Parts: sequence; structure tokens; C-alpha cells
Amino acid sequence: MSTVHVIDHPLIQHKLTFLRDADTGPKEFRELAEEISLLMAYEVTRDLPLTDVEVNTPVGRARCKVIAGKKIGVVPVLRAGLGMVGGILSLIPAAKVGHIGVYRDPETLMPVEYYCKLPPDIAERDLIVVDPMLATGGSASASIRFIKERGGQAIKLMCIVAAPEGIKTVQEAHPDVDIYVAAIDERLNSHGYIVPGLGDAGDRLFGTR
Ligand code: PRP
Ligand code: URA
Repeated sequence: MSTVHVIDHPLIQHKLTFLRDADTGPKEFRELAEEISLLMAYEVTRDLPLTDVEVNTPVGRARCKVIAGKKIGVVPVLRAGLGMVGGILSLIPAAKVGHIGVYRDPETLMPVEYYCKLPPDIAERDLIVVDPMLATGGSASASIRFIKERGGQAIKLMCIVAAPEGIKTVQEAHPDVDIYVAAIDERLNSHGYIVPGLGDAGDRLFGTR
């Protein structure tokens, strides 16, 4: 079974409070989503392998570490996952970005794929699938399945707010995928929204409603 990491750093918890607040408008919501994603990426990349290098300092020769040539891919689940990409890229500018378009059918809550463009070498990359909301888990599970069908192997899932139901669904479908979240909320309501959650992440990011 995969591991669920709750990244409850005080800075993340503080920013998440304002992300949840219904009075936070799209500009501030976007900034907070990026900042939280940057802080979470720090933890998600904690196990990246290092290799030794030597550099000349102004005073002498130093034996140091750099990240060992591992290639990283970030895959936002459209639309709301887009709001997490900038924060991650500011930490890992060399990462390639793939896109998966999945929406939740409002009647059935089932995921529907409408777009997929991934880096050609995804099989060699450590992939971080990002979506702010893990509700029923249908969208994340399907997105990960699509990525695996196209060759992706080393996959982590990074979400900001999760429901217990979504975590269970992803763990059962993809026991090899570790899940990173900033908060696990109480439950889903009858419309499949996370309670208390933060509402519709895509609408709040892009001002559509
Ligand atoms: C939201 C969210 C996830 C999905 C989570 O996307 O960004 O992708 O719902 O729900 P689930 O875990 O029950 O599948 P939505 O379908 O609203 O599309 P959008 O990002 O385009 O707004
Ligand atoms: N998608 C969202 O954007 N929010 C939820 O609470 C559930 C699904």
C-alpha cells in the first residue's frame, strides 16, 4: 500500500486557511495555490538522489552535492492542476510539464478524459501529478491510469485538500503511488464536494462560476 504524507508545515497551514476562505478572490487564490505548491514540492522532492561534485570556492576546494541528473515531470490535471505548476517550476525549473484534461461529469461524478499531452520520455522521469482537490478520487485515479498506459512508471500524487474517500480510491487503484496532501478533510457532500474543503478549485482559480 502506498504512503500518505500530510505536509502540515505551519506556513502551509497558514496559507491554506486563506485559500479556504470564501472571501479570498481569484488573484489571491492563485498566489496562495502557487505558494502552497512550492512549499509542498520541497517535501515531495525530499528523496531525490544526490551525486558528489567539487567546486572552487573563493577560499578552497569544496566537495558538494547536486541532484543526480534525475529527470522530473510535472503533470497538472486540467484545469485546476494548472494553478500548482508555477510554484513547482520555480523550485525545479528544468522539469518538463505534461497535461491531462479530465473533468468530472456533474451527474455521474465519473472522470472523462478530453486532452493528453505528455513529454515523450515519461518512462524515464519521476512524475508528480498535481491537482488541488482529491474528492472521490476518480479524476486522479483515471489520470494516473492514463499516464501509466502511456509509459509513466514512477508517479507521485500531490494535492492540496483531500477527502478520505479519494485517498482510499487512489490507494486501491494505484498502490505504487505515494500521495502528498496539505490537509485531509472530513468527508464529501452529496454533490461530491469536499467538506469543508475550499469549494470548486477551478472556478476559484480562474474566476468562472
Ligand atoms: C475538480 C478537481 C479535480 C476533481 C476532483 O476538477 O480539480 O480534478 O474535481 O474530484 P474527484 O476526486 O471526485 O474526481 P473538475 O472536474 O471540477 O474540473 P476543472 O478543474 O476543470 O474545474
Ligand atoms: N472539485 C473541486 O474543485 N472541489 C471539490 O470540493 C471537489 C471536487
